[in-house]
Amino acid sequence: MNIQWYPGHMTKTRRMIVDQIKNVDAVCEILDSRIPISSRNPDIDVLTEGKPRLIVLNRVDQADPEGTKQWAAYFRAKGYAVLESDAKAGVGTTKFAAAIRELLADKLRAYAEKGMAGRVVRVMILGIPNVGKSTFINKIAGRKTAKTEDRPGVTRSKQWVPIDRGLELLDTPGILWPKFEDQSVGLNLAYTGAVKDDILDIETLGCHLMCYLSEHYPENLKTGYKLTALPEREEEENDVAYGYRLLEAAGRKRGFLISGGEVDTERMAKILLDEFRGGKLGRFTLELPQ
Ligand code: G4P
Repeated sequence: MNIQWYPGHMTKTRRMIVDQIKNVDAVCEILDSRIPISSRNPDIDVLTEGKPRLIVLNRVDQADPEGTKQWAAYFRAKGYAVLESDAKAGVGTTKFAAAIRELLADKLRAYAEKGMAGRVVRVMILGIPNVGKSTFINKIAGRKTAKTEDRPGVTRSKQWVPIDRGLELLDTPGILWPKFEDQSVGLNLAYTGAVKDDILDIETLGCHLMCYLSEHYPENLKTGYKLTALPEREEEENDVAYGYRLLEAAGRKRGFLISGGEVDTERMAKILLDEFRGGKLGRFTLELPQ
């Protein structure tokens, strides 16, 4: 898979995190609840070691609620505080300040005992592109803050965003990509639109997505494309070949035909990805805790 990534830019971001970590009381890591592992940068654990962590499972409106429940339990069991959010609608975001204060309850109590009750709590916000970081920050700050650029080549300095009198966020510029070692990570990021479609040709991406949905969410596929039954998968038929037949079946139902009566599978693949991303096929979680 031809995924662009930017080692120089990543190195700068890492350096900034290492440099600033001493200035914050906690770290808030924003993840896409549909792909909580694929949307994580594993280096964050090492870079922020020892800091209390709040995991925000964002985009819950787009994820399967059962999947979100499992992920919230998974991260809580690992000792993180968890907040579920739909930053676009502002659901869950109002609980952010309270979640941070609860996470830091012991520290805040110690400050109060030392007569430092008014001390400002500082939180570093981290997340890979497209998880909803800016939307989340804007919602909790109650206004539009300048977007910290995550495009390579554009350098913006860090910014402190006040939330209330006792709470400030450190919005980190720069990009943090997850690890692309596993093909499924690349596919998950492409399905959700976090990386450009050109990592794979759109038809192949559509084949993989069709195949995934047929295994995990067959009813959504049947309803979405008015298929009474999904074609049987043949023995030893690989994902792309089977996905292609699903694209054909859905495309035929939609009437996407080209000369000779063949199905325009490329058009169908584009529609599938658009409808998947736009929530028209339902809510999906693309990976579950092992
Ligand atoms: P980033 O900073 O992490 O890169 O992400 P950003 O906030 O820019 O969000 C990327 C897109 O995802 C935006 O849509 C934003 O509205 C949407 N988004 C963010 N959080 C959520 C969420 O919890 N639920 C849903 N459904 N969408 C979310 P856009 O199409 O780029 O812009 P717009 O049309 O919404 O203005």
